[in-house]
Amino acid sequence: MDHRTIELRTAFKQSFGSDAQVAVRAPGRVNLIGEHTDYNDGFCLPMAIERDVLIAYRSRSDTTVRVLSLQQKNLEIFDVGPSEGNRIHKSSQVSARWADYIKGCAQVLREEGLKLHGVDMALTGDVPLGSGLSSSAALEVATMLALLGANGLTFSAEKIAKLAQRAENTYVGTQCGILDQLSSACAVHGQAMLMDCRTLALTPAPLPKGISVVIADTGKRRGLVDSAYNERRAQCEAGARALGVSHLRDVSMAGLWQARQAGKLDAVALKRCEHVVAENGRTVAAFACLTSGNAEAFGQLMDQSHADLRDKFEVSCRELDDMVAISRALPGCLGSRMTGAGFGGCTVSLVKDEHTSAFASSLASAYKKLHDLPMAVYLTCAAAGAGPVVLG
Ligand code: GLA
Repeated sequence: MDHRTIELRTAFKQSFGSDAQVAVRAPGRVNLIGEHTDYNDGFCLPMAIERDVLIAYRSRSDTTVRVLSLQQKNLEIFDVGPSEGNRIHKSSQVSARWADYIKGCAQVLREEGLKLHGVDMALTGDVPLGSGLSSSAALEVATMLALLGANGLTFSAEKIAKLAQRAENTYVGTQCGILDQLSSACAVHGQAMLMDCRTLALTPAPLPKGISVVIADTGKRRGLVDSAYNERRAQCEAGARALGVSHLRDVSMAGLWQARQAGKLDAVALKRCEHVVAENGRTVAAFACLTSGNAEAFGQLMDQSHADLRDKFEVSCRELDDMVAISRALPGCLGSRMTGAGFGGCTVSLVKDEHTSAFASSLASAYKKLHDLPMAVYLTCAAAGAGPVVLG
C-alpha cells in the first residue's frame, strides 16, 4: 500500500464517517506513435503509464453521489435518481469543473437505461493535468468502474472505454477519439499495444530490451486545444468526404496523390490528409519494429511522426519542437516526438538505458535555458490497465 492509498482511505473515513468498501485505479497513457489517427479509424501504439487516478468508494442506499477530490480539495454532491429529470446538471462553478467528468459518466450510464444507486467516492491522482497524458480519460474510466461497482455491475473493459469516451464527447464536449479511454481501460502490463481504432482490436507488443520510455512535460498547458482539436477533426472528416471514403483510414498514399492531381483537396486539406495517411503506415511499421526488436527503426518513425505533426498537421508548438530538438541531440536518444493532442503538453523519447539519467538531467537543464516553464521529466514502464486496488 503506498502513501496515496493510506491518504485516500483516511480522507474517505474523515469525510464520510465510515470505511470505503473498495478502491479502483485507472492509468494515464503515453502514445508512442499514431497521433490524430484514432478518429480517422486508424492505428495508434500507446502504453499505460505508472501514474493513475485512484477512487475509493462505498455504495449508498439512496441516489445521492458525494465526491471528494483530494487534489482539488473540493466536495461535490449531485443526485442520479429519476426525480432529477433526464439530465444531470453540469457544474456552474469553474472550480468544480473536474466533477463534470464524473457527472458525465453517471449521465451516460443513465442513458444506457441503468437505474443507479448513489455512492460516496474519494479520489486522488498523479497524472499531470492537461499535459497530454490522459488525466481526463483516467478519471472517466476510474469513475465508470466505481459507479458500476457500487451498483453491483461489471462491463467489459472495451465497453467501459466506449462509455467513458461518450461521456467526454456528449457531456464534457470534447470530440476526442477512443485512444485515451481504451488505453486506460485495456492496457497490458509491460507491453505497448497496437490499437486498431476501427475494430478496437488490441495487439500487445514488447518494448525493446535495454530501452527506456522517457516523457518530458514542456510545462506549456494546452490553451484553446479543444477548438483547434475539433477543427483538425472536422478537416479530416471533410477530407474523407472529398475522397469518397468514410474515414481517412481507407486512403492510400497513391490515392491521395491521384486526388491531388484531380484537384479534389485544397492545400490545407491535403497536408492534414497526408499526415494521417502516412502516420497510419508509420504506426503499423512501428509495431513491426517492436515485434522484431528494431528500436533504431522505431526511433526514426517517431522522428518522422513529429515532423509531420509539426509541418503538416500543425499541432506542435515552439516548446514541443525545442524539447524534441534537444532530446534528439543527446546521446542515447533513438527518437523523439510530441505525444497526445499537441499545442503543449509532453514529448516522448526512446533512450538507451545506460544514457537515461544523463539524458533526463541534460534535457531539463537545456530546456530550462530556453523556457521559464514548470517542466518535468518522467520515466515510466508500461503499466497495467484499470482495475481494483487493495485498500488494506
Ligand atoms: C487526444 C484525444 C485522443 C487522440 C489524441 C491525438 O489525446 O483525446 O482521442 O485524438 O488527442 O492522437
